[in-house]
Amino acid sequence: MNAFRKLSLVPIVVMWLARVLQAAQPATITVQADRPAHQIPQSLWGIFFEEINRAGDGGLYAEMILNRSFEDSDKPEGWELIKSGDADGDISIDTTHPLNEHNGRALKLTIRRRGDGRLGVANQGFKGMAVRGGEPYILTLQACADDGYQGPLAVSLETRDGSQVLASGITRALARRWEQSQVILTPRQTSHDTRLVISPTAARGTVWLDMVSLFPTNTFKNRPNGLRADLAQFLLELQPAFVRFPGGCWVEGERMELAYRWKQTIGELSQRRNHRNIWGYYSTHGLGFHEYLQLCEDLGAQPLFVINCGMAHRDHVPMEQMLPYVQDALDAIEYANGPPDSQWGSLRARAGHPQPFNLKYIQIGNENGGPLYHERYALFYDAIKAKYPDVKIIANFWAGGRPTNRPVEILDEHYYSSAAFFLRNASRYDSYDRGGPKIYVGEFAVTQGAGTGNLRAAVAEAAFMTGIERNSDVVIMASYAPLLAHVSYKAWNPDLIYFDASRVYGTPSYYVQKLFADNRGQVLLPTDVQQTLNPPQPKGAIGVGAWLTQAEYKDIKVQREGQTLFESDFTRGIEGWTIDRGQWEASDGLLRQTGNPRGGIAFAGDPGWSDYTLSLKARKLGGAEGFLILFHVGDARNYTWWNIGGWGNTRHGIEQFADGANNGRIGDSVNGSIETGRWYDVQVQVQGAKVRCYLDGTLIHEATYQAPRTLFATASRDDGQIILKVVNAANQPQPVAISLQGLTSIDPVGSITVLTSENATDENSFDQPTRVAPVQRQLDGIAERFTCDFPANSVNVVRIKGASK
Ligand code: AHR
Repeated sequence: MNAFRKLSLVPIVVMWLARVLQAAQPATITVQADRPAHQIPQSLWGIFFEEINRAGDGGLYAEMILNRSFEDSDKPEGWELIKSGDADGDISIDTTHPLNEHNGRALKLTIRRRGDGRLGVANQGFKGMAVRGGEPYILTLQACADDGYQGPLAVSLETRDGSQVLASGITRALARRWEQSQVILTPRQTSHDTRLVISPTAARGTVWLDMVSLFPTNTFKNRPNGLRADLAQFLLELQPAFVRFPGGCWVEGERMELAYRWKQTIGELSQRRNHRNIWGYYSTHGLGFHEYLQLCEDLGAQPLFVINCGMAHRDHVPMEQMLPYVQDALDAIEYANGPPDSQWGSLRARAGHPQPFNLKYIQIGNENGGPLYHERYALFYDAIKAKYPDVKIIANFWAGGRPTNRPVEILDEHYYSSAAFFLRNASRYDSYDRGGPKIYVGEFAVTQGAGTGNLRAAVAEAAFMTGIERNSDVVIMASYAPLLAHVSYKAWNPDLIYFDASRVYGTPSYYVQKLFADNRGQVLLPTDVQQTLNPPQPKGAIGVGAWLTQAEYKDIKVQREGQTLFESDFTRGIEGWTIDRGQWEASDGLLRQTGNPRGGIAFAGDPGWSDYTLSLKARKLGGAEGFLILFHVGDARNYTWWNIGGWGNTRHGIEQFADGANNGRIGDSVNGSIETGRWYDVQVQVQGAKVRCYLDGTLIHEATYQAPRTLFATASRDDGQIILKVVNAANQPQPVAISLQGLTSIDPVGSITVLTSENATDENSFDQPTRVAPVQRQLDGIAERFTCDFPANSVNVVRIKGASK
């Protein structure tokens, strides 16, 4: 017996040793420095500016007054009446004195009595107005008066509570017709909580105001009607190769009447259309088509204009009425590139830019797809190519696939998903058809489990970007989205750059974008990454759930090797079950979900369980989908579910969730749906990393958890230097054996820039703007073969000087 025991231990020890040795083997990265592959397109890393989150109005566009033209509402939104002493009067929005046909509303200030007090209107900007002491600000306004009003208006910059006047001035005396006044206000001190106050000087009468604008003189490149210098500087530091603008869904609009039309955004400011943005606010178009082109030029970036293709989110233009939309595209190109004596080029010249802007890319629509899109794409394609064959056309890749009725030069793909998705998709482009269209990844970001922009998200995006760089013979452009967000007007999470009236900071993702932009190579070097991955050992409790569906469950049992680990008993209601979302109740031996949650779950049991069979009966009561059967449940944010009748009750698939984010599927999904009112037998068997799922006794899935790759690398050459980008997405540091092949000489001293932090969930903030930011240091001991330790959750750029054969 003893001898048998000893003997039987041998294979176990051998297996254990093999495992330890395997685990201890460092990963390797091999760079073939003497075998340059393709040239990396210099267009690769750009930015996508969308008017979302008040990125433009209230953000990059330096206008400091909210609702300057009073077009936002029937109420004086953003404006308040100031009254003190025995002053008496009121304000309202008035349509009887329009400034022009585009500016139907004005602010009417009725002064019944000024008396010994003060009457006026105040604006506090976009949830805060900041001024810097000693810097001049230009106040411009249109005003007229009646009912006996005589004299100018008093204007001042004050602290928000009015306790201190920072700067003051007087406009010209008002007339009965609209006239413009301009006053320079130079605050004596810096204030982050400021208001502009406009007060009548006359004792009584009526005053109308319109186009009340306050601009810093210190704008980016000192341009009038320009951009906030601090925000533009953040963009400049990304050295974008291109700027895609102005959206996004903003270009599409909810309906065509609210779609973005560039011709409504040029010329004199008060003539531009003010219209409601799909992201919930009004756009002045002060940052109009011309200003976008100017921004591109000032950033040294190629303009990439997204034009509405006659399709909005909820409606579209009939084909026979498409001509003006196609003409818009031709005219946009003429405005940007045409000679100063051309119809549209002359408007550009009149706006102060006789030289062409060299618009090279035009994108036909945003996220439009299907037959409606394809036929419209063809209209644009034919018209643009006939007149401007050199302008590159970008097509959408959206529902219904890409257009096939006309050539596609560049295809725009968008990805918003979990960190796991981006890690998995780091190899996505390895298999793309080299004879197909070039790819532009126009929008991408980790949006699940990303906090408001954390390190984990940034690391996963960096891993994905190594795949883009490696495949930059196919993927020629990429841009993160969205770019900018005012923290008080967020319509999307996360975003790359956050700001308020006076402050700005970049997320860890910002620093990833910057790292890649700062370290563009010219030629790609073939790079091989080898990593030994231990098979995953999933474990956890069990549960049930529902997605937009009402369902009930009974006879829930967990067994292991003939032994019952758990058996449902609802005599004491849902006691012992943990609920997350949904409306759950238990009675008559049934657990029932009657709400309409997106993924409401109820789970029970031991999070340490492994190797078991879960069986139960399930019945759909109503709703859009089928059942969610949970296993390997760690807690409410970490679990795996078998989604039966998911995807609108069309498919079954196994999905894994980590930290609340969908980590993707285990194995393939299959067609299938669930009937209402019928009891189904469900069984899930888990054995180590293997999962088998049965529905009514039929095996539906046999799948295995895969250990996700955690090491990603790409290398390039630039001016005698090798740039090696390494991403470690693991929660532990990884020592990596690096082999540089084909170099005749290597400088042992190089540099390494590391982006990391203590925890994957760490973020930057106004208080700690560079908590997660790259740090550069010298790297010694570089040789043909050397080992480098890459910290947990890190993005690394190693620069090596060396000559190749
Ligand atoms: O980037 C935010 C939005 O995401 C864009 O408007 C749209 O194109 C996408 O769906």
